Amino acid sequence: MSLLERINRKQEKTSAKEDTKAKQKKAPEKPKAAAESSPANSRLQDLRVKRSSPSSASRDAYIDLKTNIQNRLIAELDPSIDVSKTADVRGTIQELYETLLVEEGIVLTRSEKKRLFDQIVAEILGYGPIEQFLTSEDVGEIMVNGPSHVFIEQGGKLARRPDVTFEDNDHVLRIIDRIVAPLGRRIDESSPMVDARLQDGSRVNAVIPPIALNGPTLTIRVFSKKPITMENLIEWGTLTPEAAEFLKAIVQAKVNAVVAGGTGSGKTTLLNILSSFIPDGERIITIENAAELQLNQEHVITLESRPPNVEGRGEISIRDLVINSLRMRPDRIVVGECRGGESLDMLQAMNTGHEGSMTTAHANTPRDTLSRLETMCLMAGMDLPVRAIREQISSAVDFVVQQARMRDGTRKVISISEIQGMEGDVITMSEIFRFEQTGLENGRVIGRLRPTGLRPKCMNQIAEAGIMLPPSIFGIGSKGKR
Ligand SMILES: Nc1ncnc2c1ncn2[C@@H]1O[C@H](COP(=O)(O)OP(=O)(O)OP(=O)(O)O)[C@@H](O)[C@H]1O
Ligand SMILES: [Mg+2]
Repeated sequence: MSLLERINRKQEKTSAKEDTKAKQKKAPEKPKAAAESSPANSRLQDLRVKRSSPSSASRDAYIDLKTNIQNRLIAELDPSIDVSKTADVRGTIQELYETLLVEEGIVLTRSEKKRLFDQIVAEILGYGPIEQFLTSEDVGEIMVNGPSHVFIEQGGKLARRPDVTFEDNDHVLRIIDRIVAPLGRRIDESSPMVDARLQDGSRVNAVIPPIALNGPTLTIRVFSKKPITMENLIEWGTLTPEAAEFLKAIVQAKVNAVVAGGTGSGKTTLLNILSSFIPDGERIITIENAAELQLNQEHVITLESRPPNVEGRGEISIRDLVINSLRMRPDRIVVGECRGGESLDMLQAMNTGHEGSMTTAHANTPRDTLSRLETMCLMAGMDLPVRAIREQISSAVDFVVQQARMRDGTRKVISISEIQGMEGDVITMSEIFRFEQTGLENGRVIGRLRPTGLRPKCMNQIAEAGIMLPPSIFGIGSKGKR
């Protein structure tokens, strides 16, 4: 007999049994009432789900069984229990769970029992159906488009997971609440969008109805458990050792760089790796919407912007932070992403003694990156002529490192371009490295980031920093090696 058949039978028995129990004594009501009144445990109470009638569908029967056990467990858990002590609570839940299964006469196989237990623990202590992905090594993104459409990006590939569903919209909402409430944020009809960060650093965005038409929508960029290093990027074919050595040199030589790319192309990851090459002893200020950068240097100040509060006040924008950081005597400013007027302040900072500053921008080619920067500077509302903005860009930015998410899901650096200056009204650029695709094998993109043979203008600056790069890195004097 399958688990669901057994559950269905058990369900009928259980509800009959519960009716009799309820008639016989009202005693179980007592701990419930106590638990409800305890503010310490209000989080547990939120999890108690009321399902009215046992459904005939098998999936609903399983959910009913889970809900029933979960509710009973919560009712019997000590209301003053400290849910932050995960291991202790897990142990207590395990004991109660075993007892309940015996009391209810539910017979499950070892694996069924474990699965149900894991799901219940994930509901009580974690993030429900998506908990499993948050702890997984190779999941990069989790996307919940309403209760029954869950997508994940695993190993660079996006795929739907029909086996993972939420019970209903309320269930998704409860999980969203669980994420945002501890951060003092709220999400409801009047403020239906929220950006947040999980304790492990994963970046979360939630949008709920009436804005999201297909139900509460959750997007989580899962924080990589092991920080991604330049060695990883080389191993994964994102760039070559030569390009990596060059990028390391430009960071150490205080060259200003913009990492550009499409959404999820790996901009923040590369920015983090590049920032790790900033020598110790420099005062670094990082500015982000949701702190994703992780620098190991000793002298780092991390600033995070803040959205307006419910009354629409108290907003601290990235731009405010960039302006403020200039009064904090930074050697370098690293802005997680430029999306608007802050770009102008960032360019000014790069031009005025904060060389070696870095940021990322959303754009698909190095040329696009320049026009994007231009548009973002216009957003500062300073009424500057376009030519003046272009001059700022051309003197502030030295390099655009262009990253892309390829059709096979891999991320690659597709261009490293140096800004040369202005010719008339146009900013001129030279590509120092360019990705050349040579084929597509079994859906995999084949190619290599090759030097173009041009010697970068910043070589003197690199040499002044005491770094000697062999000309062969740029494909000069070593044609065979290219
Ligand atoms: N070179 C790489 N190879 C494989 N995976 C990568 C690489 N770089 C980043 N990733 C993974 O890709 C995902 C997106 O990375 P990241 O957050 O750096 O992108 P992003 O361009 O900053 O995205 P967004 O536009 O949303 O800010 C992450 O899960 C990250 O672990
Ligand atoms: Mg990013």
